[in-house]
Formats: sequence, structure tokens, C-alpha cells
Amino acid sequence: MTKETNENKEDYLEHEPVLLSQILHFLPHFESDKNAATYLDLTFGGGGHSIAFMRKFPHLQVYAIDQDEEALSAGKEKLAKLGLNHSVTFFHDNFAKVLSQLVTEGSETERIKFDMILADIGVSSHHLDSFKRGFSFREDGPLDMRMDLRSEITAADILNHYKLDKLIQVFTDYGEEPFAERIAEKIVETRRKNPLQTTKELEAICFYSYPKSLRHQHRHPATRVFQALRIEVNQELAVLQKAMELGVQLLKPGGRMGIISFHSLEDRIVKNFFLDCDQAEFRILTKKPLIASEQEIALNRRARSAKLRIIERKKI
Ligand SMILES: C[S@@+](CC[C@H](N)C(=O)[O-])C[C@H]1O[C@@H](n2cnc3c(N)ncnc32)[C@H](O)[C@@H]1O
Repeated sequence: MTKETNENKEDYLEHEPVLLSQILHFLPHFESDKNAATYLDLTFGGGGHSIAFMRKFPHLQVYAIDQDEEALSAGKEKLAKLGLNHSVTFFHDNFAKVLSQLVTEGSETERIKFDMILADIGVSSHHLDSFKRGFSFREDGPLDMRMDLRSEITAADILNHYKLDKLIQVFTDYGEEPFAERIAEKIVETRRKNPLQTTKELEAICFYSYPKSLRHQHRHPATRVFQALRIEVNQELAVLQKAMELGVQLLKPGGRMGIISFHSLEDRIVKNFFLDCDQAEFRILTKKPLIASEQEIALNRRARSAKLRIIERKKI
């Protein structure tokens, strides 16, 4: 095993699950149906949430999805070390695809239903720290950004092949980037000479496209473009919408679905989806999204923008 792979595994082992105490507070009362309690983790990652739930409810049957193979294999290893792997079924795929299979499998009565479904969406700290994946511009790396390495389109493909208008739209819609036009024009000009290949090249284009007076602000000029590209590469907003539509169909009566999002675009989609659900059948448990405490933010910076919303299928 290479040094980098070893370090990646360590990253997973250290992962802190976001908003854990808030989620534990809102978990359904698994105890009432002890032997048949089921939890679907749409974004297994380092397994932080799954492990916390299994520790609290040792009888829980866990179904764990991640489209990132590195995440899944590190998570499996971690569960095995903790002796918790016996009650987990793993899926290496996009959660929208797995949900779609679960919703169409067998008849309505045969179909597996869940007491709790959770999505902690977006990239993990492992993705950001593993420079070869191209999610971050802290160090140089290839412009990749695929969470699932089997998917075909990388960030480089988008940057080198999308038309100018489409690039502007991606940076505006998914990054709310105020200088989208200038950045996209510079990308098109640069790629005429040489295709873009590395994260540092893109970082420099963003940096020099910003007016001098705004280049050294709190948020780096490349931050929004990197976010936008990541969303486009992984089609994050479309799969989130689809997953919620399918997820609610798989909730048991009294079952709950929680979504943790990390930026306003995602949170808006979650909020609107919950509001659009038939309120005779579903109940929104979080009128306002739950957010991290100051203590949690001090320990885990990723928590600062996390928002959790939860919906419940009514018992009737
Ligand atoms: C923030 S991490 C989850 C961390 C996890 N809750 C924990 O406590 O360790 C998000 C994970 O979800 C995965 N992921 C994101 N979008 C996905 C999707 N559409 N389908 C499957 N996995 C996805 C990523 O690969 C990443 O490993």
C-alpha cells in the first residue's frame, strides 16, 4: 500500500460526524421495533454517523451507500476493527441509483422500508485533503473532482470543452460567482493555447480575473468556481432532488429523513422539497434548519455551514 493510501485511510478514521448530537436527538425510537430497525446512510463516507447510531442501537440494520470506493473500503475496514460490520450492507454507487433500485424492487409489501434515512452531502474532508482528487487548490493536482472514479466527465473535460456561455452559467448558477464572465473568458483564451490540466492553473486564472482590490479577501477568488465545478461534475443538485423524492417513498410510518447540506443552493432545494411534500402524509420536524454549536465549529470547521432539515412520514 502506498504512503498516500495509508494516509487517506487515516483521514477517514479521524472523521468527526457533523451535527451528531442534533441528529441523535431526532432519531426515531428504534427501541419500539427492536429487531426490525433499519437505517439507510446515503453518504457513508468515514462511517461517522453510522457508527454512532450502531453504538447507540446495537440491533440496528444499516444499509450504507457511497459512490467513492476509497471511502467505502476504508469505512469497511474501520467497522471490521470495531466489530460492527456484521449488520451492514454496502452499496458502491450513487445514492440516487441505489434508491431507485430499492423503490422498484419487488412488490410494495416486499420492499425494504427505513426508520431513518440520512444524507450528509457533498465532499468529505478526505476528498479535500487528497490532492490527487482535484477538489482543492491548496496543493497542485489534476482537475478531476469525480467522487465516483468510474464516471466519465472530469472537471478538466468541462473546462476544456464547455462553450463560453455554458461555463458562465455553471459558475453563476452553482457558484454564485460575481466574476463568472471574466473567469470563463480567461479559461477559453487559455485553453486555445493549451488545455487546462491542474488545480493550480485554474486557481491562478480565478485569482488574476478578480480586480486587484478583491484578490486578498477572506474568501479566495477560486473558491466559488471550485464549488461550481464540483457540483457540475457530480451533478450534485439533480441527484439530491431525485434522492429526496425516492427516499420519502421508502420511509416506514414514523420514519424520518434528514438532509445535511452545506450551501444555500442545496438548503433551498431541501427546504422547498419538504414544503412540497403532502403535509397530510409528512410532517416537517425542523421549522428552521438545525445548525452547529460554537463548540462543534471550533472542533470541526466543516460544521460551520452545515444545515440539517428533517421530515417524518406520519404514523396514521
Ligand atoms: C461528507 S461525507 C459523509 C461523512 C459521513 N457522514 C461520516 O460521518 O463519516 C460525504 C460522502 O458522501 C459521498 N457522496 C456524496 N454524494 C454522493 C452520491 N450522490 N451518492 C453516493 N455517495 C455520495 C461522498 O463520496 C463522501 O464520501
